[in-house]
Amino acid sequence: MPIKKFTVFIVFAVLFWSCQQKPSEVIVPQIIPNLQNQSIMEGNFVLRDGMGIQNDSDFSISADFLKNFIQDGSHITLKENDDIVFVKDTSISNVEGYVLEISTSQIRIKANSDQGAFYAVQTLRQLLPVGFENGSFYKNEVAIPCLKIEDEPRFQYRGMHLDVARHMFSVEFIKKYIDALAMLKMNTFHWHLTDDQGWRLEIKKYPKLQELASYRDQTLVGHFSDQPTTYDGKRYGGFYTQEDIKEVVAYAQKQHITVIPEIEMPGHAQAAISAYPELGCRGDSIKVAQTWGVFEDIFCAGKESTFTFLESVLDEVIDLFPSEYVHIGGDEAPKTHWKTCDACQNRIKDLGLKDEHELQNYFITRIEKYLNSKGRQIIGWDEILEGGLAPNATVMSWRGTNGAVEAAKAGHNVIMTPTSHCYFDYYQSTNEGEPLAIGGYLPLEKVYGFNPIPEELNQDESQYVLGVQGNLWTEYIPTERQVEYMVFPRILAMSEVAWTNPEYKNYEDFVSRVETFNMRLDALAKNYANHLYEVEGALITEKEQSFYALKTLTKDKVIRYTTNGSEPNEQSVIYEDPIPFNENMTLKAAVFKNGKQLGTTFTEHFNYHKAVGKKITISPDPSKVYAGSGAQGLINGISGSDTRYGDKEWLGFWGDDVGITIDLGEEMEINAIKTRFHNGQGQWIYAPKYIEFQFDHDSQIIEVPDSNDILVLVEFDKKVRTRYIKLIVPNYGIIPEEYQGSGNKAWTFIDEIIVN
Ligand code: ACM
Ligand code: ZN
Repeated sequence: MPIKKFTVFIVFAVLFWSCQQKPSEVIVPQIIPNLQNQSIMEGNFVLRDGMGIQNDSDFSISADFLKNFIQDGSHITLKENDDIVFVKDTSISNVEGYVLEISTSQIRIKANSDQGAFYAVQTLRQLLPVGFENGSFYKNEVAIPCLKIEDEPRFQYRGMHLDVARHMFSVEFIKKYIDALAMLKMNTFHWHLTDDQGWRLEIKKYPKLQELASYRDQTLVGHFSDQPTTYDGKRYGGFYTQEDIKEVVAYAQKQHITVIPEIEMPGHAQAAISAYPELGCRGDSIKVAQTWGVFEDIFCAGKESTFTFLESVLDEVIDLFPSEYVHIGGDEAPKTHWKTCDACQNRIKDLGLKDEHELQNYFITRIEKYLNSKGRQIIGWDEILEGGLAPNATVMSWRGTNGAVEAAKAGHNVIMTPTSHCYFDYYQSTNEGEPLAIGGYLPLEKVYGFNPIPEELNQDESQYVLGVQGNLWTEYIPTERQVEYMVFPRILAMSEVAWTNPEYKNYEDFVSRVETFNMRLDALAKNYANHLYEVEGALITEKEQSFYALKTLTKDKVIRYTTNGSEPNEQSVIYEDPIPFNENMTLKAAVFKNGKQLGTTFTEHFNYHKAVGKKITISPDPSKVYAGSGAQGLINGISGSDTRYGDKEWLGFWGDDVGITIDLGEEMEINAIKTRFHNGQGQWIYAPKYIEFQFDHDSQIIEVPDSNDILVLVEFDKKVRTRYIKLIVPNYGIIPEEYQGSGNKAWTFIDEIIVN
């Protein structure tokens, strides 16, 4: 055959053999967030010294990022070649979507925008060895598997928040935070810049904001609920100059991250009011807050001067932040001072408003109008629904999802950040060794399982859900290392909630990708939490017999355990079948690989009592987001954590009176019943005022004394014969005026019911 044809044949044959779909044993790339669509081919593309990247100016951000990543990360120097090409593809309808094609001869990145191409680059980055992350890849060539990926995000808003008011972090650290967002294909950084404990943004027109409002005299030590209250006696504070802000915004733009500033109003304004007392209703001198919580000194809604101030502040904010959205807070604004302020009351009268909630609506709507006139839109926490919603506002739903449902049904955009799944200041493990946190319990799996579309929305209404965000409030997070600890790995789960369609999500698969991803985090020197090698347990009851089952998340490991309270070691029994539970015991277990313990030791104290494994019914059901391990968890012999009400043992009910019935199977004598309730005013959790115990022939009401303790014990201690035990637990009621969350229904959290 003629030479030319033969050459063509060879080229095709090589391409055919090297890039056809491989039927088995493919190494699937371990990408987070998971890709929507990928096919792995046989063969590799070898990226080597002297190769090059070709792109036109449409793709300059992405191409520059990739060039720097390769050259800074390895000994590969790029030249002017077309081994990696960026191709404009107008048929890709999602501006953030991309196609990544890797054949033996070329890498093609197709996108309709630089943003889409940027996410292709982030995927390619995760196909490269982790040494590229810190410049420790010493070779000058690397093989990348042939594949084709078609990918696009599920949601257009994929955010992370950071509170820099309670504790402040350096510009260098903020940049690293932004780097992490970009790596995980998130596109929004919500920067919480002002609060009661500090104003962190330079405003040229009001210098006392940086001179006074950005410093507090001292800070609370320990947890808010610790008694007695102590302070560290150290001045704390700082602020970002306008040059700092410009630097961060420009840096973020180079990674397609929008920075949304939050300027809190009308509440969480004590720092600003301390510098300019005339901004409050009372005009008296107050200090920048030194403790956490909700404060009554909020911006006066009656005086014109408040609006002059805020509009001037916003003018400077708009100049600094090109973002379409400005977050104006709106949460947790007690109306105490508005009720007694002449200016506020006159405003209510003059405008014919019904009450202070409508005054809040006036406040927010007026600020919205101002920002709209400058071409900007507002986002507010879901309290902006009170007294009516500003016409164009986007609602950030944090107090559960009701705010989102109400707003979406009214045709407003919403962003989902409910405390139950998105608050990374909550504990992530029940280990006692965790750093002090605000409370709550939000493990990795719960973040991963979040479905951002509330069930109450139909298909049309769910279009208003723009996306999701993880929040990091920093009352209990003084250092940058601790920020990382609280954010990683939960941000990995959140990125997948935001990016990946449910059909490509699977927790077990995610966990194995996290295990791989941790090596990248090591290369990036991130201080991530690692709870992958922990043991989890669950009580199971079969034919009136109780057993305890153990599992761990990752593959190729064994669990070893003891039941006498001693530490497990490489000689301890290997767990195979559920462990019988018919007497008190202390179970300790840990994950081992090659004779070495990997994670921390799991400890469970079992208190065998008369109700363990019996029948229990609860009406109504607990809240879906705090359903623990179900009703049976209240009589499984295991008490919940003393500090983490959201763990598997506590059940949470929002606003409902609860009836709990235990069927002991036959009449028997009981001598005492004990249970306990969680008290957490900051989280709107209150013990009931009394509970009623009902038996077959008898009943008794037990008063629960008012207490600030976070655990409230209730004990019934009389002999009775009964088959059924019923507990009536009335809800505390509406949260009173002077407390956080006032006007809302209180939560009830109940732990194990111990029947002796
Ligand atoms: C909030 O957590 N106060 C929005
Ligand atoms: Zn006022």
